Parts: sequence; C-alpha cells; structure tokens
Amino acid sequence: LTIRATSYAEELVKTAKTIASPGRGILAMDESNATCGKRLASIGLENTEANRQAYRTLLVSAPGLGQYISGAILFEETLYQSTVDGKKIVDLLVEQGIVPGIKTDKGLVPLAGSNNESWCQGLDGLASRSAAYYQQGARFAKWRTVVSIPNGPSALAVKEAAWGLARYAAISQDNGLVPIVEPEILLDGEHGIERTFEVAQKVWAEVFFYLAQNNVLFEGILLKPSMVTPGAESKVKATPEEVADYTLKLLKRRIPSAVPGIMFLSGGQSELEATLNLNAMNQAPNPWHVSFSYARALQNTCLKTWGGLPENVKAAQDALLLRAKSNSLAQLGKYTG
Ligand code: 13P
Repeated sequence: LTIRATSYAEELVKTAKTIASPGRGILAMDESNATCGKRLASIGLENTEANRQAYRTLLVSAPGLGQYISGAILFEETLYQSTVDGKKIVDLLVEQGIVPGIKTDKGLVPLAGSNNESWCQGLDGLASRSAAYYQQGARFAKWRTVVSIPNGPSALAVKEAAWGLARYAAISQDNGLVPIVEPEILLDGEHGIERTFEVAQKVWAEVFFYLAQNNVLFEGILLKPSMVTPGAESKVKATPEEVADYTLKLLKRRIPSAVPGIMFLSGGQSELEATLNLNAMNQAPNPWHVSFSYARALQNTCLKTWGGLPENVKAAQDALLLRAKSNSLAQLGKYTG
C-alpha cells in the first residue's frame, strides 16, 4: 500500500473510506465569497459575513444531516467560522458525524497560449496552507479545475489541468488531507454525449498518468467527475439510463478500482436530474462507491425556501434533508421518487 512515503498513509485511507461510506455523500458548501454573494443576491440578501454565517449555520445544523452526508467541503472563511450561536462550525460537523473538508484551490485564471481556456491557481504555499487546515480540523481537500469542450479543449489545457491536480494531490496527502480530484468538464456547449465521452476519456487518462507520476496513493484520494451528458445546449437530451451507461463505461475504462470513491458534481443539472442519474448508476454493484458531492443540486430549494427569514429556517433545513435523503437512496440505487 505504501508506494507513498507519507506518514499519513493509513489515516488517508481511513478518511477516504469514511467519506465513501454506504448511503452517504458530500455536501459541497465551499462557495467562495464571490459565488456565495451571487447565491445570496438571488434571494435579495447582501453579501455580508453575517448573512453567509446565517446561511452556513442553517446548513450544518440541519438535524440528522450526518445520516446522509459524510463530508462537507468548506470555504476557508467557514473553516474558521462559528455558528450564529458561537459554536465552531467544524465542531458541529464532527458532532453530526460529518468530516470537514476545505477548498484549497485559488480559482481559475486565463491560460496564456490557449484557446481562451483557463487554469487553476493555488500551488504556491499549498503545503503550509494544507498543514494549517489540518490543524484546524480539515481532513480532506478539494481542487476544482475546468475543461471546456466548446473551447477545445486544447492539449495544453488538458495537460495543465491534469498536472496541477496531480501536484495538488501529492501535496495534500503529504499534509494529511485526502485530495478530491476534480477536473470539471463543463456542461456548456451544443455537442452530443459521444463528444463528452471522448473528451472525458482523454482528460482522465492524463489525470491518472500524472497522479501515478507524482506517486499519489490511489487508496487515499476521491474523485469528483462530471457525469457524461450531452452539452447543455444540445438539442438531444439523454435519459438517466444513457447517462449512467456512458458514465460507467468511462469510469471502468479509466479509473482503477483502488480508488475508493467517485463523488459526482451536479454541474448545473436540476436537483431531480442529479438524483435520477446517480440512482441509475447504482442499479448494479460498482468497483467504487459511486456517490455525490453536490452544491447546487442539494442547496437550490433550501436557499429559496429560506429567503433570509429566520422563521423559514426549519422549512429550509427540511428541504436540504429531503435532497440529502433522496441522494442517499440514489447512492444505494433505491430512489423511487
Ligand atoms: P455543483 O454540484 O453545484 O456543480 O458544485 C459542486 C462543486 O463543488 C463544483 O466544484
């Protein structure tokens, strides 16, 4: 097991297995302050620290959330934040049986020399930041880079995405954090499902080539792929069964069974689509735990229901718990609507 000489090897494997436990998935609540501001604006709230704190308190204190949610990805602000009642959010998560995680990438910037594509920053200082996040209670990390189908993707953009993810994964493991490896293949575009499949095969081949080159311990990572679907503007829609067939074919061709968990992003799918697609993928046993790491597909109705009003907190938490439970059932292949 120890191809990687990190003192954390055993702990990494254990953390990854805990997150990839039956009937559970990840709540992505790591919106940067800018993105959180957009979500708050959609319900007419100002982007203040107090409003972000109120919303995040609502999410993490939903009663019994840990039955369906094994990990929560936080933005740096939240890792050091307290609830409105003054309890550390990290402590509340641990009490709920939820492993705290941290977004460690520093976001996307234009990739010079490419076809208007981007790359993900954040490697400078990553080792010391990761060590500090571990001290603060984080046990896993997320790094999201993106690949655009309409803009190429160019060979340069794919290589940069894969290399950056592999360096991040090695540095995270050295500091005790299980890296979530997320090359998001954006939904945007008019292309069909075959084209997404072709691009995804290319991207994952490179990601695993560089993960291996960087001596990353595969048993101590989690993946966060996009599902293989037609482009968002494609005239042809795919059924959950088609999405499941293409996505599982991709995973079987490209992902070693040593990887414990595949935690999909929702990427702009509706709440129901994301649940139905996940359920379709779990109709037969898979070599890995196939689950979710959704932000929008867990939070959309919850946020709208809350609307910033204290009297709506309970109804909003119920909306979150309904999505969490539905996706928990979908992880088990037992969602019936
Ligand atoms: P969505 O599920 O809203 O795509 O967000 C997941 C995520 O964390 C993207 O990085």
